[in-house]
Amino acid sequence: MISEVNKVFMLSTKETSYIFRVLPSGHLENLHYGNRLKEQDFRGIHMKQNAGAGSSVLYMEEAMSLDLLPLEYSFNGKGDYRVMPLEMEMPDGSFVCDFVYAGHEIMEGTMPMNELPDAHGDGVTIVVELRDKLFPITMKLSYTVFSDCDVITRRTEIINHSKETVRLRKIMSLCLDLLSDGFDVMTLDGGWIKEAHAHRRELSQGMLINDSTTGASSNRHNPGVILMKKETTEDHGRCYGFNLMYSGNHHTAIEVSNHGIVRVIQGVSQHNFHWPLASGESFETPSAVLTTSGKGLNDLSHHFHDFVNHHVISERWQKKPRPILMNNWEATFFDFNERKIMSLAKEASKLGVELFVLDDGWFGKRNNDHAGLGDYEVNRSKLPGGISNLARKIKALGMSFGLWFEPEMINEDSELFRKHPEYAMKVPGRKPSKGRNQLVLDLCKVEVQDYIIENVEKILRDAPISYVKWDMNRHMSDMFSDAVEHQGMVFHSYIKGLYRVLRKITDDFPDVLFESCSSGGNRFDLGMLSYMPQIWASDNTDPVERLKIQEGLSYFYPSSTMGAHVSQSPHQQTLRRTPLETRFNVAAFGLLGYELDLSNLNLKEKEEIRNQIIWYKKYRSLMQFGRFYRFIKEKENRVNFQVAEEDGSIAVLGNFQILQKSSPGFDVLHFKGLNPDERYHVETVKATMDIEAFGELLKHVTPVKLKPGGLILRNARKFYRLPHNVESYDCYGDLLASGLRVNQQFMGTGYSKETRMLGDFGSQLMSAEMKGAIVNGEKQ
Ligand code: GLA
Repeated sequence: MISEVNKVFMLSTKETSYIFRVLPSGHLENLHYGNRLKEQDFRGIHMKQNAGAGSSVLYMEEAMSLDLLPLEYSFNGKGDYRVMPLEMEMPDGSFVCDFVYAGHEIMEGTMPMNELPDAHGDGVTIVVELRDKLFPITMKLSYTVFSDCDVITRRTEIINHSKETVRLRKIMSLCLDLLSDGFDVMTLDGGWIKEAHAHRRELSQGMLINDSTTGASSNRHNPGVILMKKETTEDHGRCYGFNLMYSGNHHTAIEVSNHGIVRVIQGVSQHNFHWPLASGESFETPSAVLTTSGKGLNDLSHHFHDFVNHHVISERWQKKPRPILMNNWEATFFDFNERKIMSLAKEASKLGVELFVLDDGWFGKRNNDHAGLGDYEVNRSKLPGGISNLARKIKALGMSFGLWFEPEMINEDSELFRKHPEYAMKVPGRKPSKGRNQLVLDLCKVEVQDYIIENVEKILRDAPISYVKWDMNRHMSDMFSDAVEHQGMVFHSYIKGLYRVLRKITDDFPDVLFESCSSGGNRFDLGMLSYMPQIWASDNTDPVERLKIQEGLSYFYPSSTMGAHVSQSPHQQTLRRTPLETRFNVAAFGLLGYELDLSNLNLKEKEEIRNQIIWYKKYRSLMQFGRFYRFIKEKENRVNFQVAEEDGSIAVLGNFQILQKSSPGFDVLHFKGLNPDERYHVETVKATMDIEAFGELLKHVTPVKLKPGGLILRNARKFYRLPHNVESYDCYGDLLASGLRVNQQFMGTGYSKETRMLGDFGSQLMSAEMKGAIVNGEKQ
């Protein structure tokens, strides 16, 4: 809901209010962003300036300093010295501008943008128009309120009505001044195979910048940022979340002023940015996404999750169960042929897999990563019958078929490069730098966009393909395009070109499920999610590392967006050995897939996977779309994840142990989101462990004496796995919330099937079901 009384604007969601007013000077003052307030006389929260402004510069004749005000947007050269959301060379060559209120309009719905993705669904929008006092240049500040999920999106548009060209050097989507000090900041930082690690730190005087300069939203710093009071935890306290619907270079700056006002600006990065606006032209920023909660970080994340699930993901994929997939990449890399793929696919289908994905290496001379990108001719020596023949064979096994593409890239050793070297991005006269032996295609060029659209669509038309993995495997360098007027336009024009390609292809193939990937999670953002409902979270599938990656992402993105696979142990990037059970237990909190050579597994391991898939299918809707909860880590050594249906009828809790302690203490598991007055049946999800984990001890627990490491044991492993951790309870939700004391862990002395044999990297899943809960369409 949006209301206006005497130029005071009140934007209300279910539980929050965002209030600002027009000052007598025409500037916009932020009065409140936080818990929901009643409509009233808001003079009590006007910022008072009745004691002079010290050494500050006054705004014209009014006894007011802009520097001391919480503003909705701010402009250069009129006495506000905090970080600026806008830098524009005006028609007079100066950087001074002064935009003031000129009118507003409130409308139902969202305001779709032409070239950038935006949120959809029920919303109310207010557009406030500001005009520069000297030149006929206008600015529109748009706010859309998504009441159901307590989210407000903001964006900015500049329209040049003057006769001269103006030059944008920086234009942020959002500027928000919050009147509170004592904040902590959380950002997601990392790199390849260590994406999205959450870092929380104290915000102190000065400036903190979270940005990307790689050309993509990047695995270095995700655009999501959280500000929270020092005392805020997962379940208590005030916090503010910011994210940007954009896949290119982003920028968030947070400055604490010397009077304790915290300014947040967020938008497209000004790194190498320069955008000329000729007479009559306009520029629109992507949308920034804001939310706040007084109930801690889990609640804040739930706002973001609902927003993504209801207003970002295309309506056709909302709540639509995602298939369990098998991807051949880690099993074969480039070294495959139809026979190998079919034998992997046959094994996968026997285990219950629903979708088989053929990864990199099926086209051109792509036998390694030095050649082939840019080409779409099927590699006939690997796949003599082509993609359509393979897809049909996979379909005959009862699975659907998916295919990998990396359309934004080119190898010098490709037919495309030989024919169109000018399609590759490079600076004339300079040798371009390569990443993974490849160059970036110049997506600022319409002919390059059309080349991609035409070729990807042809493959999708010619074969029964129901899933596409859209990869992008390098950072941008040698930024130059002859398709733009100024080289400061390259980064943003590339992203606009990419969005045009994605819009066209995903509209033309509405039934194909697209998964975005960029060397894993190098482009995990709301822009990509607008076109592709899921993203490969990381090339790192080591469950211990994945706990950090998936937990970090969960602050902003729901489980329904995170591709998570079970892979081989020892893991290919960390060499860590982990139990199959834990690899599954972590992947189960995302979109489950398998990515390993099934022919290396013994019968018992295959049976374990078959059971995992049966279990996941039953709880799929809960695991993919349920409410996800994080827990305060009492000890770094234990991590808990949990999902619950919104009505509290079922929940699954994951308990992950990093390292085994000798003679460990007692574990108490707390469930969240359950109904305290309802009775639940709680039980551990059945799991078995590799008998090899027992080492020498085996001779004490098996009826027959076996020599550890001996031939008999090695053979026995194929036919026998030890059950462990069997426990169940019937109790009320109140007890489960206050803490369930679960069975003892192995203490070095005894084993029974009740003992929890966790060991290093061990884990367990526990489900809690209310009597009569609906699981997979069936009443329990
Ligand atoms: C990237 C992806 C992987 C795989 C390879 C193929 O690294 O993240 O999942 O698709 O490319 O080259």
